[in-house]
Amino acid sequence: MKFENIMISIGIEGTAHSIAIGFVKQNKNKCDVLSNLIKTYHPKKGGIHPREAANHHAENVSMLIKKSLEEAKINYSDIDLISFSKGPGLGPCLRTAATASRALSLSLKKPLIGVNHCVAHLEIGTGTLDKCRDPVLLYTSGANTQVIAFAEGKYRVFGETLDIGIGNCLDKFGRSVGLDFPSGPTIEKLAKKGGKYLKLPYSIKGMDIAFSGLLTAAQQYYEKGERLEDVCYSIQETTFAALTEVTERAMAHTEKNQVLLGGGVAANNRLREMVSIMAKERNATCFVPSKDLCVDNGAMIAWLGLLMYNSGVRMKIEDSLIDQRFRTDMVDVTWRE
Ligand code: ATP
Ligand code: FE2
Repeated sequence: MKFENIMISIGIEGTAHSIAIGFVKQNKNKCDVLSNLIKTYHPKKGGIHPREAANHHAENVSMLIKKSLEEAKINYSDIDLISFSKGPGLGPCLRTAATASRALSLSLKKPLIGVNHCVAHLEIGTGTLDKCRDPVLLYTSGANTQVIAFAEGKYRVFGETLDIGIGNCLDKFGRSVGLDFPSGPTIEKLAKKGGKYLKLPYSIKGMDIAFSGLLTAAQQYYEKGERLEDVCYSIQETTFAALTEVTERAMAHTEKNQVLLGGGVAANNRLREMVSIMAKERNATCFVPSKDLCVDNGAMIAWLGLLMYNSGVRMKIEDSLIDQRFRTDMVDVTWRE
């Protein structure tokens, strides 16, 4: 295959709450992040409303592209490739980011590539972190919770949530006890002041995890008068232990000795600690990207687009439809040996 080597890619991310624009540049086989700006929609009340989030993205995308260009100290004419998140995610949000990407591609006369959001979370780790080559990814965000690794020519999901994402579980619990959105960071702070373990459902089925039973049980503890700090502590200990266990099993199964964290919940120090201890016990290495590369961001989309393009993938505008249920194992991995 002929490998082209284009250099600068813009990534337009818009799967859920955030519209994000990043610019990356290829530096041998590593990724230099030139800029990475994120603007997040915060619902006034309750959960995310897809159409309102999409309106937010539409209102902000042009401004964010301009700011991100400025920060990267480049011009529109320097852009070689337009990459966007093709899925999985919320339809209206995905469509907004895709439409902006097509418009940019047509006006700049530059190629367009739609990428898988979950695979992008993994590749930004291998692209930016020294020595991170072939990890098992524990991807924990609001809507997503998956354990992903490369095996037999594809990125495969070894375990995932059967109901809600871990971030969603934390946010839902937070909302029910009156915490602000997103509740994950507050729950982390409260958990540090707790220490009494309240038994919660630990449900791993095969390699998959369920959180909704635990959520209900945690809410009941709080209603019965248990200290919020202890409930938060118990939620973290139980859910993170389950996530660590599934990750460890995937590492054992695939015989990989690297683990990578991704997604907004990877900001949590207790989760990092548990996974690091597990890795150490297995003689493996734990990698954590910087926070702005863990959450939904444009740089990871830009980088995966670049990897795909430089390994020969091409996408016509008419084939650039979004896919709300774009699965990790549907991706044709052309850029790896
Ligand atoms: P996706 O579409 O990938 O699911 P998202 O917008 O839901 O994206 P992210 O931006 O990756 O997700 O992460 C947001 C989630 O991370 C929220 O649920 C939030 O509560 C959680 N979170 C952020 N910081 C922490 C923390 N310190 N501890 C636990 N959870 C955290
Ligand atoms: Fe994500």
